Amino acid sequence: MASRSILVHVAALLLIGVLPFAAHGGTVHYHDFIVKETNVTRLCMTKSVLTVNDSFLGPVIKARRGDTVYVNLHNQGDYGLTLHWHGVRQPRNPWSDGPEFITQCAIQPSTNFTYEINFTEEEGTVWWHAHSDWTRETVHGAIVVLPAEGTTYPFPEPDGEEIIILGAWYVGKLNLIVEEDLAQGVNMPNSNGYLINGYPGDLIVECTMRQTYRWVVEYGKTYLIRLVTAVLDAEVFFAIAGHNLTVVGMDGAYIKPIVTPYIAASPGRTMDILFTADQTPGLYYMASREHQSEDATVTGFDHSNATAIVEYQGNYSYSGTPLFPDDLPVYRDFKASEIFTAQIRSLASQEYPVDVPLDITTRMFVVVSMNVIYCDDSCQSGHEILSTLNNISWLDPPVDILKAYYWNISGIYGDFPDYPPTWYNFTGDYFDDSIVFTSKGTKVKVLNFNETVELIFQGTNVLFGSMNHPMHLHGQSFYVIGSGYGNFNNETDPLTFNLVNPPKLNTYPVPKNGWIAIRFRADNPGVWFFHCHLQHHQSWGMAGVFIVLNGDTEETSMRPPPPGMPSCPSWTIPFEFLDSDMKNIS
Ligand code: C2O
Ligand code: CU
Repeated sequence: MASRSILVHVAALLLIGVLPFAAHGGTVHYHDFIVKETNVTRLCMTKSVLTVNDSFLGPVIKARRGDTVYVNLHNQGDYGLTLHWHGVRQPRNPWSDGPEFITQCAIQPSTNFTYEINFTEEEGTVWWHAHSDWTRETVHGAIVVLPAEGTTYPFPEPDGEEIIILGAWYVGKLNLIVEEDLAQGVNMPNSNGYLINGYPGDLIVECTMRQTYRWVVEYGKTYLIRLVTAVLDAEVFFAIAGHNLTVVGMDGAYIKPIVTPYIAASPGRTMDILFTADQTPGLYYMASREHQSEDATVTGFDHSNATAIVEYQGNYSYSGTPLFPDDLPVYRDFKASEIFTAQIRSLASQEYPVDVPLDITTRMFVVVSMNVIYCDDSCQSGHEILSTLNNISWLDPPVDILKAYYWNISGIYGDFPDYPPTWYNFTGDYFDDSIVFTSKGTKVKVLNFNETVELIFQGTNVLFGSMNHPMHLHGQSFYVIGSGYGNFNNETDPLTFNLVNPPKLNTYPVPKNGWIAIRFRADNPGVWFFHCHLQHHQSWGMAGVFIVLNGDTEETSMRPPPPGMPSCPSWTIPFEFLDSDMKNIS
């Protein structure tokens, strides 16, 4: 009874905020996100973290393909932040994409900003997260995009749904620790425990506090698990004891079903997974642990096993602890990660066709590497660790790239190079000082509208720092047409490219000491960030920006800025001035 009246109440609330039509015919939804500091206790430690609407995890956004969602972010915290809608294309609308210094400056405390999120191509699970410093540690949530009105899934309608969010918990004030580490040029902190739906589970050894998420299932039913890899700074494995998983979607697009006892996921990855409760009724652990691809000498990582419990409903007797998934790969099982990832294919059906660009107009070769820079007296060792793309470590500009581009402000960014400054044995063991040392810069690659891009990301072993780099692109998904180990060979490797049913994703790991080849059509005018989704690599500068120029028509051009874009406090010419100036001109 109680639950029914709550349901009615929620439905009534939703209706209040719903208008009949969006610009493109879908429904319009409104949400208020109140961000503020809240005390949260995990691993026997209470700390104040930023939460949205008083809860960690943050609220779920639910929409249909074709809908528009407005999120009014009220910043009641004590530092600036931004939000990003990871995996949402945002056609012509970089203004609401969110990465700080790229498409906006931070929303300052005691102010608000309304994001407009347009769901056009994506279907399935994507997610939202803070996109300023390390705030997304706790500021994140799932986005469920249902099929458009009148359409359905390319698989039988599931009996129920369950959102599973993989996360990580850090003891201490993360942003302060990171700020200090960045100033010293030293390594970033490791998480202290992994989480499933916000809880570490009952296998943790750090303390005796038992906080475990439970999911009650009914025997014989099939559920759609909507999995979000919100883990800040590591790749992870995930499995459910005794049950296979059928992965049917990834990054907001359907894929050819993969039946698997475990999954491997990079930070940022979302999946739609069918799960059938067809085992002997009882208790089963779902579990997640780190996939560690760094040098074997790196041992100080988070070794915790996060668990949650799948509990079959009904009357049966069960004694003992839940079954643990023995198919969950161990930390350094690189092979397991590779086997899973190699199976991902687009659905490539009549209804969900692939559209891989075949005539390429822009070719880029981007070297993804760890590096160092000399630093002034502020840092301990005289060297600062950095990460780079084509030997440039991203430097945040004083005004965001989108404003600088839109208002023609010169001197903010330069050209991102199509090739590395030197060609060397990227995956070898010896590196010249000229390769090890780097510099910072704000470099942007400008693409004409509709240009077709092929980009090779090549990993390196500089500083013995080879590892997987989950590269993420905003504003469009890309086809992953090839990948391999060692140095990319531009004669033999293209012969292996898959142009038939390559996966279309927004994040994909460049394998340790290897490369990937991606293709996309630059048909979304705007300013789009690309970066490694391991948070410490992003902070060290493993990032770049595409500007996709306008086409000839309004439909192929960026939309004008919405009202209330946050200004940039560290920039000396106030944005408001330019804004009104522009209004006078037009
Ligand atoms: Cu999930 Cu640039 O982010
Ligand atoms: Cu990386």
